[in-house]
Amino acid sequence: MSATTLTITRPDDWHLHLRDGALLRAVLPDSARRFGRAMVMPNLDPPVRTTAEAIAYRERILATSGAAGFTPLMTLYLTEQTTPEELARARASGVVFAVGEAFLAGATTHSAYGVRDFLNCTPALATMEELGLPLLLHAEVTDPAVDIFDREAVFIERQARPIVERFPRLKVVIEHITTREAVAFVAGCGPAVAATITAHHLLLNRNAMFAGGLRPHAYCLPVLKGEGHRQVLLAAATCGDPKFFLGTDSAPHPRRAKESACGCAGIYTAHAAIELYAEVFDAAGALDRLEAFASFHGADFYGLPRNAGTITLVRDAWRVPASLPVGDDAVVPLRAGGMVGWRLADG
Ligand code: DOR
Repeated sequence: MSATTLTITRPDDWHLHLRDGALLRAVLPDSARRFGRAMVMPNLDPPVRTTAEAIAYRERILATSGAAGFTPLMTLYLTEQTTPEELARARASGVVFAVGEAFLAGATTHSAYGVRDFLNCTPALATMEELGLPLLLHAEVTDPAVDIFDREAVFIERQARPIVERFPRLKVVIEHITTREAVAFVAGCGPAVAATITAHHLLLNRNAMFAGGLRPHAYCLPVLKGEGHRQVLLAAATCGDPKFFLGTDSAPHPRRAKESACGCAGIYTAHAAIELYAEVFDAAGALDRLEAFASFHGADFYGLPRNAGTITLVRDAWRVPASLPVGDDAVVPLRAGGMVGWRLADG
């Protein structure tokens, strides 16, 4: 397609880490410029485990400069102590839309409060199924005996499949999928199961972590996979199947925490999120499918109205800043110092 501009219904980000305090203030405007809504992940430290905490966090987000016109959809962090009463409060609040990103303990950033086995949470999952509260899964096992590149595929068999079989009406989102096994699982389930796909997993394969040396800013979880998996993800994102939709997993960390002997997992993409997806869909010859993936499929899955406004993208390259200052540190964004092929028309 040779179009140099593309106007689409304002998209939503169905998987976003906004953090808190100075980091929240630094990153929120990037998401709010592009997206109408975002599913805001609860892995603060300590995590957002109650409705009262979710309401307070939502107020901090809405009080942040640059939040005008942006709607944060709040989530609750699942622990083995999460009660049916707390879930009922969450559902009734009108501001909590899902439970998750749910982790197995130790899976990633601030996941120490996570569960040991999802089947230890049977009463909570049964309540969520009854209430219509979706479960958002970080689909990686933490078993150190399992190779890191296989942890998603093993999670699908050990955890996701038993959950879906036991709770067939529970809405489940396999978040930030990275493998052909996850794509096949989601495509083979009924309409209650869907998946988000990040821009970085569509753009990069695992070579990016080792390009000329060790690249901490290309390290995320689930870890980048091989090129064959990336090709399958690309086909899933661009094929028009409503089970697959946009979730950036934009996950800012201070530079010092990334460039370390034990660097944190997470890639910051909110500064160019929809532009990066536009690049991906453009390169795949599927720009005409971007709007459904970015603006329709997620809202439809959650039973929420599609956004009313639009955004316009222009095929016009711009240089990404080397870093985004945060206090005496900085966040290093994806493509830092490099070019992105699409820009927002008003930016
Ligand atoms: O890379 C990641 N970073 N993956 C996650 O699941 C969590 C996230 C974070 O919060 O930093």
